[in-house]
Amino acid sequence: MDLPGKFDKSMRLKRYGVCFVILFILFVIWKLSMIETGVDRLQSIKEALELHKETLHLSQQQVLLLEHLENSNNNENINLPTIYAITPTYWRLVQKAELTRISQTLMLVPNVHWIVIEDSETKTDLVRNLILNSKLMVTHLNAKTPPFEQLKDKDPRWKRHRGVEQRNMALKWLRENLKVNRGKGIVFFMDDDNTYSIKLFEEIAKVKKVGVWPVGLVGGLNAETPIIDQKTGKVTGYKSGWKPDRPFAIDMAGFAINVDLILSKPEAQFSYKMEKGLQESEFLSYFTTKEELEPLADNCTKVYVWHTRTEKPSVNGVVPGLEV
Ligand code: UGA
Ligand code: MN
Repeated sequence: MDLPGKFDKSMRLKRYGVCFVILFILFVIWKLSMIETGVDRLQSIKEALELHKETLHLSQQQVLLLEHLENSNNNENINLPTIYAITPTYWRLVQKAELTRISQTLMLVPNVHWIVIEDSETKTDLVRNLILNSKLMVTHLNAKTPPFEQLKDKDPRWKRHRGVEQRNMALKWLRENLKVNRGKGIVFFMDDDNTYSIKLFEEIAKVKKVGVWPVGLVGGLNAETPIIDQKTGKVTGYKSGWKPDRPFAIDMAGFAINVDLILSKPEAQFSYKMEKGLQESEFLSYFTTKEELEPLADNCTKVYVWHTRTEKPSVNGVVPGLEV
């Protein structure tokens, strides 16, 4: 007699099953339509942006930034850290030649963000145009060296610290615009007159906290270099023509620092009060110890950067209308 009951039960189960399948299919169709409209919407936003680029008054720099962001989505270098290369620069006859050389090196480097700081009251067209033509990802700033600290024409170079105001401005920009632990980044001080191999940037990308390597043609030697204990792989001292007993006898071009370290030590800055020639050593002391340094460039056996200096040209006349 309980047959109809059983029949009812299985019918009910079947009905529930059918309802469930229908609901599931409806859910899938709804989800798919969401995805499609999402893609469509992104596409139409992109088209609108393209159409209204002019009316939006995007600067050339912002358009470049958009392109960089778009490219970074399908970029095979997406896992590389961003290298923040900080370059102080000032007006002299060779400025454009120096900046041309180093910007064209940077064009061969993936994932670089160039921070250029002019030692001037205002940003100049010369530097602005050079940056735009490079199509690099650039932040362009300016910070004038106070007159008292400015090197005079006849002064020997060692008499004043160079690049202090400018590097501090770049550090301030990083601290105001980046957040700790939000992405991989390495900071490198890239003077405008040195010569850099693109291999150096492959080494910089390996830095975990603070990396070091040899620098050619500096300090009265063919190269300065950290000395490495072959057994432990650690830095034990420095070969340097000048004060090798400094805590870090390393030129500005011989180290790079993880950006998170830079962000987590806001007090770390360059200063005119630092003893002459001790800027690098005092700055590095904020972040690390000799034992913690990471030797790069094949255990400090390769030179990938040279402390070159361009001769001051003797110019007796000016051809009007030519920017040099
Ligand atoms: C050496 C180091 O390599 C520098 O990194 C360090 O800043 C300098 O000593 C120092 O002890 O202050 P050196 O070749 O003598 O460098 O210095 P420069 O190349 O003349 O200047 C370093 C950076 O500062 C360059 O990028 C340069 O364009 C910039 N700078 C120089 C200015 O922005 N304004 C100036 O008046 C002079
Ligand atoms: Mn120099």
